[in-house]
Formats: sequence, C-alpha cells, structure tokens
Amino acid sequence: MVFLVILTSIVCLTVTFVLWMRKRFSYWKEMGAPYEEPSFLYGNLKGVGKQDHDGQLIEKFYRKHKGRGPFVGIFFFLVPVVVPIDLELVKNILIRDFNYFHDRGLFYNEKDDPLSGHLFTLPGLRWRRIRNKLSPAFTSGKMKTIFPLIVKIARRLELKLNEISTSESQVDIKDIMARFTVDVIGTCAYGLEANSLEDGQNEFFHVGMSVFENPRHGTGFTFLLLAFREYARKLGFKTFRDEVIKFYSSTIRKVVDYRLANNIERGDFMDILIRLHVGGNEEPLTFNELLAQAFVFHSAGFETSSSTLQFCFYELACNPVIQEQTRSHINEVLGEHGGELTYEAVADMKYLDQVIAETLRLYPPAGNHIREVTQDYKVPGTDFILKKGTSVMIPIYAIQRDAEYFPNSTSFNPDNFTEENIKSRPFAAYLPFGEGPHMCIGARFAMMQVKVGLVTGLRNYKYTLSERTGRPLKLQSKFFLTNVDGGIWLNIERLK
Ligand code: HEM
Repeated sequence: MVFLVILTSIVCLTVTFVLWMRKRFSYWKEMGAPYEEPSFLYGNLKGVGKQDHDGQLIEKFYRKHKGRGPFVGIFFFLVPVVVPIDLELVKNILIRDFNYFHDRGLFYNEKDDPLSGHLFTLPGLRWRRIRNKLSPAFTSGKMKTIFPLIVKIARRLELKLNEISTSESQVDIKDIMARFTVDVIGTCAYGLEANSLEDGQNEFFHVGMSVFENPRHGTGFTFLLLAFREYARKLGFKTFRDEVIKFYSSTIRKVVDYRLANNIERGDFMDILIRLHVGGNEEPLTFNELLAQAFVFHSAGFETSSSTLQFCFYELACNPVIQEQTRSHINEVLGEHGGELTYEAVADMKYLDQVIAETLRLYPPAGNHIREVTQDYKVPGTDFILKKGTSVMIPIYAIQRDAEYFPNSTSFNPDNFTEENIKSRPFAAYLPFGEGPHMCIGARFAMMQVKVGLVTGLRNYKYTLSERTGRPLKLQSKFFLTNVDGGIWLNIERLK
C-alpha cells in the first residue's frame, strides 16, 4: 500500500513537472516569435562549455533564424532568452532604449564573495553611482599619465622576447602576453611590481590566470546561476574560488593600508579608488566596493587584452604580408617621433588600430553582450512584448562574422577598418567593447596596452606559425571569455 502511494506520488510529480516544463518551453511559440526548439531540461544550452564556445553556440541560432524576425527566442535551461538579430534592435537595446535594459542581470553575492559585486554585475543605481565615480579614471588625460608605466613593462617584454628568440626560438604567445598584461595592470592598478615576465612562479600571474582557466564553475553552471540567481544568492553560492577571494582581499587590503599609512600617491587607478573610499566625498565607496572594482580592473584588464594580443600575433603569423606591412608602419611612425615609443607616436599608428580592430572582430573576448529587460518592452515595428526579467544575449561574435557586413568574413583583413569601409556598414555591426552607458570603461586603456605590446613584439621580431599550434584553432569558452585549446605557439626570429 505504502509502495503504491509512493509510486503514484512520483508519477504525479513527474507528470506535473513535465507539463510545467512543456508550458515553459512553449513561451516563444505562444508569443508567435521565431524560436529555437529547446531540448529537455537544458533548453538550448546543450554543449556549452564542453564542445561549444558560447559565441559560436549563439552564432548557430543567429544564422539559422536571420531574416525571420528582429530576434530569435531561445532558452537557458528553462529560462527564456532573447537573441537580437536586427542591428537597429541591437542599437536600441544598448543605447536608445537603455532605460529598459539597464542591467545585465548577472549573478553576484557580495555577502559571501566580496569580489563579485563589481561594475560588470551590479544593477541599477548601485552600478550608476560607481560608474559615475570611476569614469574620470579612464579619460585620455589619465591614460597619458599612465603611459610611461606601460612602457617600463614593455622594456621587460623586449628583454624576454630577446631571451626566447636566442634560446628556445618558439614562444607560447598567450603565456608571454598574459605575463605582460598582468605586469602592466599590476603596476597601473595596484602600484605593484608583479614581475611575472621574469618570475615564472609569480603568484599574481597564477592566481589571475586561474580566474579564467580554472573557474569555480563551468560555463553551463554559470548560466544556471544566472538563471536562478536569487536562489543561488540565498544559498550562499560564490562566483570565485576561495583562494582567489583570499588572495585579492589580502593583497588589496595591504596596498590600501600601506598607502594610507605612508601617504603615498602614484597617480594610478588605486589612488582614485582610495580617494573615493576615504576622500570625504558623498557616499564614499565601502572597502568591499573598492575591493571588487580593483579586482575587476585587474581580471577584466589583463585577460581581455592578452587574448587580443595572442590572436593578433597568431593572425599576423598566418598572414606574413600583413605582418610586414604592420611592422613597416610601426617603424615609419616611430621614425617620425624620433624613434621613441611615446603616447603621441602610438596614437598616430592608425594602421595598427585597423589590425587590432580586425583581431577584435574575429576574436571578440566576450562573444555575447548580456542585458536584462528591466521593464516590459515593445519591440519597435512589431507586436512582440519582451517581459521584464527576460535575459538578452547580443550575439557579437555572430554579427561580427556575418558576411553581410564583412565580405570574406572569416579572413583576416585590416582593410575592413579603413574609414570608407567603416562608414559603409551599420553602426552596430562591430561592437567588441559594447556600446552605450555600459560600454567597456577600460577600452582606452586596453587599446593603449595592446598597441604597446604589439609595437614591442613586432619592431624587432618576426613570427611564423609553429607546428605545435593546432589548426583550425579550437576556441574554448571558460567563464565567457574566448580562449584556445592547447595555446598558440609561434616561431620567433630576431630581425636585427
Ligand atoms: C581588449 C580589451 C577589452 C575588451 C575587448 C573589453 C570588452 C568589454 C565588453 C564587451 C564589456 C561589456 C560591454 C557591454 O556590455 O556593452 C566590457 C565591460 C567592462 N570592461 Fe572591458 N574590455 C577590455 C579591457 C578592459 C580593461 C583594460 C578594463 C579595466 C582596466 C576593463 C574593464 C571593464 C569593466 C569594469 C566593464 C563593465 C563596465 C560597465 O558595465 O559599466 N575592460 N568590456
């Protein structure tokens, strides 16, 4: 009898669950919108973080449904997600109708994981208050002040490349460029000499890399946290590994205490954060707010730029004519500036801008830009209403590889970014730094450090592809950022 009751209850619960799930999965169908058929439980996320890079996964839906409507509806597990396809809609979401999409709706939990409450994750007014306070740290005037700090690290990069070219003659370009950008951010953000270019075991480097290479959760689980973030927060889930939280918390605490005790100012990002923390301004930043922003400058700042550098060197190794043209351009502009690597010289390297833009087109570090519908939104020109709480994934990787906007869209061609070609495309066809009020706050800084890394790497060295690099590249997506299985190895040869 008891057995029969248990069995009947299990059957009833299973049937109720399946019916409820079918109802959830009919969300887009009932709206009459184009949608991708979901599979049991996973929705449309099957394979993400295992076979698929998240940019490539969404690209499949983008291609399949392009031309059928302004967006396609998909599911992350049981949660409906809208993928805009029409570029006017993309522009409206990011800029014109920002008030309907002012949050990313990402998971964070400041109580159990103080690193997680940063600009990228904070919602609404909390994001606005901190963004307004931090924006002055990234003006072009500030970049000019910081520039010599980057050049100092570039000298060490030059020494390292020289050492490798005379000894091993092959370089793991991701490793070396990650060390360069970790050292740059270490000095520009914290005033610390990380020196990972010389110290193979450097803790800054290893902990920083582990944020992306050994994240606490895989991409699939991260999407799950995103979909059920309120519950996850109540249950005390964290974003980062305990050792990462411990390392950054104690390092930043020591830097802040030391600077305050010794009245030290270095003109770097940390000065600005400390002033916002104790400077007697309205609503000062709490220590945990300072900590989270210092952390995001470090992690967002080094990984995205080193990934851009690695892909750029890779493409230049595969395209020797463009590599030579870039090197000649660098030498010509440096010649006009007395051979000195100055802020002005780097600003004048217009062809280098094109080479970087083309790299960011093919390999945007973030494959999708995320938003949440923060109030019901009627999609212009249609009767579709996107309900408050729906997630939005803007498919940047897919758009930037769409042959409608970029002919021969998978080939590396810096001429895609001549002034004339830029003008001939819709505005939203190229957005590696995002756009609108949530646009990357560090874009200027990023361009500066990537340019200095390229000038230093290309001036005196030539690169070809090593047999150790698997082709075609197999992109991975750990923690939402674009990476490569097995790394990228290049042969390096000193030119003079
Ligand atoms: C090549 C390098 C970089 C790329 C491609 C990149 C890309 C992005 C993208 C796509 C976003 C989201 C934009 C959106 O949702 O519309 C973003 C946001 C952000 N980035 Fe970057 N980034 C880079 C470097 C940096 C650096 C160097 C820093 C800091 C020093 C930084 C700090 C941030 C922060 C704090 C946000 C959140 C901004 C907000 O929501 O207010 N990024 N970045």
